[in-house]
Amino acid sequence: MLMGTNNIRHVAIIMDGNGRWAQGRGHVRIWGHVRGSSVVSSIVEEAQANNLEALTLYAFSTENWSRPFSEVKVLFRLLKKFLLKERKKILQNKIRFKVIGDTADLPEETKCLIDSLTQETSNFKGLKLTFAFGYGGRSEILHSVNKFITDNPGVKLGEKDLWQNLFAPELPEVDLLIRTGGDQRVSNFLLWQIAYAELFFTKTQWPEFKREEFCQILDFVSNRERRFGATTSYSCLNETKVLAEKNRQIIHDHLGTI
Ligand code: FPP
Repeated sequence: MLMGTNNIRHVAIIMDGNGRWAQGRGHVRIWGHVRGSSVVSSIVEEAQANNLEALTLYAFSTENWSRPFSEVKVLFRLLKKFLLKERKKILQNKIRFKVIGDTADLPEETKCLIDSLTQETSNFKGLKLTFAFGYGGRSEILHSVNKFITDNPGVKLGEKDLWQNLFAPELPEVDLLIRTGGDQRVSNFLLWQIAYAELFFTKTQWPEFKREEFCQILDFVSNRERRFGATTSYSCLNETKVLAEKNRQIIHDHLGTI
């Protein structure tokens, strides 16, 4: 990856197009998920190779509960299979693993696998790999707000408080959101965290998404200018926040002269 002016730390991916990919080849939709799950580990490897700090993958949304039982079952099984198959590699590569979302209805065995891998990797300093499973952006924001007001009755909620009560507060802002499959929407994914993210939509369906395309997107986006609301390029939102505060003060002090 070429390092441009933009430092991409956190990439989030909506892995869409599995069903259409399978149907287009005369298979049942779930075959697309099976093929799609095998793409995940190559993209994780590429994220590491590109020194990303965090990769968050949308594996199952709150809305996906409306899918046929047979399809939901396959997605559950694929998660379990991934945890069993990739565990060794995750430990070897010092990847910090986490699942965000409501996992209460997952089978006990899968919940145990998630818990143990989360615990074992919690102090690792490598890639922060997060699966969003049973996840919805709006419910995450609601969770955060409700937690804060329960813990701090009568206190006004600030931006930092909202961040701190998200499911994974240690993750940086999302710098880049990629969606495969051709649709151009964010589908309730990390709504708070993507406020300033670059958005990249590719027609490639997830089972066909290759590490080469991932790298091309990283290169392309790292060369896009990010202004975070300012007029020139900045490397992160905080830089412009500091500048905005300074400017507000200057303008405030000179209000009489305007
Ligand atoms: C969207 O495709 C994809 C999902 C709902 C699930 C994504 C899951 C995987 C890639 C496999 C799970 C892997 C692990 C490791 C947990 P879609 O079915 O909505 O596709 P369509 O838009 O073509 O119908």
